[in-house]
Formats: sequence, structure tokens, C-alpha cells
Amino acid sequence: MKILGIETSCDETAAAVVEDGSRVLANVVASQIALHRKTGGVVPEVAARTHVGKIIPVIEEALRKAKTRFSEIKAIAVAAGPGLNSSLLAGVITANTLAGVSGKKLIPVNHIFAHVRSNWLERDTKSFKYPIIVLTASGGHNELVLLKNAKSKPKLIGETLDDAAGEAFDKVARLIGLPYPGGPEIQRISQQAKNPENLPRAWLLPKDIARNFDSVEVGERLRSGKMQLRNFDFSFSGLKSEVRRRTTTMKHEARNMKQKRNIAAGFQESVVDVLATKTFLAAKKFKAKEIHLAGGVSANLALRERLSGYAGELNIIFRHPEKFAFCTDNAAMVAAAGYWLAQNSRKKWSKMITVNPNLAI
Ligand code: KG4
Ligand code: ZN
Repeated sequence: MKILGIETSCDETAAAVVEDGSRVLANVVASQIALHRKTGGVVPEVAARTHVGKIIPVIEEALRKAKTRFSEIKAIAVAAGPGLNSSLLAGVITANTLAGVSGKKLIPVNHIFAHVRSNWLERDTKSFKYPIIVLTASGGHNELVLLKNAKSKPKLIGETLDDAAGEAFDKVARLIGLPYPGGPEIQRISQQAKNPENLPRAWLLPKDIARNFDSVEVGERLRSGKMQLRNFDFSFSGLKSEVRRRTTTMKHEARNMKQKRNIAAGFQESVVDVLATKTFLAAKKFKAKEIHLAGGVSANLALRERLSGYAGELNIIFRHPEKFAFCTDNAAMVAAAGYWLAQNSRKKWSKMITVNPNLAI
């Protein structure tokens, strides 16, 4: 079953053709990174206008690359939320129109659920073992998700209360004068850091615990079971403020490359520690047989290494997307998620759909 996926929730205009939820026949992404680099981040109106100009050529290219005629497409899956309202509209209106004129099934997909399915792309998914804990970390969102079996609806068990991990990477990069997107830049300069700054971890524990223990030690205590976690939520805005405090108190001339590397490495270590530890504890609690990492931040090598180590400790499987192109926003994951929804439900799909920036899992 061939599905056309459409993705425009933030700053990537993307279309893909995927067969049976995993075989990627084409995955086309028109990235707006160069455009948003000029402003140091995404300006919603600029992103939306660019989607409108690119969406049709991107869909045509995906069909051409997949060597697939539009008549062979069984259903159209489109990311309908969460995301930037004006950006989502471009994909959703295009999908409505294509489905409306062709009478094809139209499947609205949750963007986060789509990231969850990015680990299904180009894999033999029949060998997957459940339950699976998925950490999704990107610029716009950051969640821990539990998947009980192949067809079950993902269950949200934790999410960010403020900034997403990728957003924190981007903001901290900007503070230390690195270009957008900040994640790959911070990773790159962290590798040369000699003396990483010791930055706090936000475990979201009661204040008395936070006051009495060093936050690095809290992580060790949580992992060894000496201390109990209260929730699986995340928060990265405090860490970003701490980086801002340290960078502004540095004398301007002292903000040299050496210090930037140490701040970047300390920041990355703090984010990785919290993301990986909470994922490890969730995998333990829900007796997961696999840990999956998804979203733009899943490209981060330090995070992959930590999670792979924790999965080894638990004697379970660790996966991250097969290709970098499946980590960041793409339409192949949307088509895969659409496939699983179509397998799942007796719903009638051919209705018009609406944008829902707050679409819940
Ligand atoms: O999933 P994605 O393409 O878009 C959103 O849905 O937001 O994720 C983009 C995010 C950006 O914040 C970028 O800085 C981050 O992923 N990112 C990384 C790395 N590569 C991309 N963060 C940390 N380390 C990386 N290597
Ligand atoms: Zn995303």
C-alpha cells in the first residue's frame, strides 16, 4: 500500500512516498534552514509563505523519484498538528484539495506520532519487541512516549514544560554566537572542549532535594534507585537562563573560543544527562524491550551513546532513525504513521481535515 506523506509543520516543506509503512520510495525535503539562518530562527510568516511556493513542486518530485503515478497512491497522510498554525495550513489545504479531487483517503497525522514512526522507516519492523519507550526531542517538542504494541495508540508519559531540547540547543548556540540550527554546531565545538562547565540539571524534584544535593549527584542517585523520580517531564528554560547568566558575566574579551567550547560541552552534557536518565527510568518502569530515539536531536552523538549504554545495562534494544534525513522533519515518517493509523481504524477517512496546532497524542 503506497501512501503519499505531506509535512509542513515548521520549516521543512516535505513530501514522500512510502510503501507498507516502512519502504521509502522517495523522501523529498525542501529545507528553509538557509532562509531562517538570517534571522537566527524561524519566522512563522516567512516559513508559511515559502511552503506555499514549494509544496506542489516537492510533491511532484516525490512522485517522480518514487516512479509512482498519482493513481497508484492509496491514501494521503498529512501532518495536521502540533506545529506552527500558518505552516500546517499549507500542507493541510494541499492534502484536502488532492484528496477532494481524487477521492483518496485522507489521514490526519499527529506530528509527534510521526516522529515515533521514523524508526520504522527502512527496517524489518516485524522483529520489533514491545513495549517500546520513545524519546522524541526536536526544536518544537520533546516527549516521552510509550507504545504497548505495533498498532496501539502511543501514550504520552512525559513532555517539556517549557523549551524543547532542540530549542534550548538553538537558543544557547545563539547566546554563544553560533549559527542556526544550534544542535549540530554545539555538538561540533563540544568535541574539542577541554574543561566542560558544570551546569545544573533540571530533574523537576521538590526544592528541598534540589537544595541539598548537587544535581549531577541526583542523576546518579536516580539511576541507582536511591532516589525516586516524581515525573517524566522535562524543563530546559532554566538551563538556558543559567548559560545566559554565565555568558553575560564573562568579560566580553574573555568570551573566547575556549570558553565557548566549555559552555557548549557543559550544556550538552546537562541536556543529555536529563534526557537519557529519564528515558532509562521510563524504560525500567514500563519494562520496555526497546528504547527508540527520534526527532532532530536524535542526531546528537552524545545522546545516542548514552542511551545505547543504558539500553545495554537493561539488556534491551536501542534504535535511532536509520538515516539523518529521518531524524529531522520529513514526510516519510508522516506516511508511515498514516499507514499504521489506516491499519488500525474503521474510521471513514475521506472527509476534509482541519489544522490543529495542539493535536493531542
Ligand atoms: O525535528 P526537527 O527537524 O524539527 C522540529 O520539529 O523542531 O528538529 C530540529 C532541531 C533543531 O533544534 C536542531 O538544533 C536540532 O534538532 N538538532 C540537533 C542536532 N541536529 C539537529 N540537536 C543536537 N544535536 C544535533 N546533532
Ligand atoms: Zn519535528
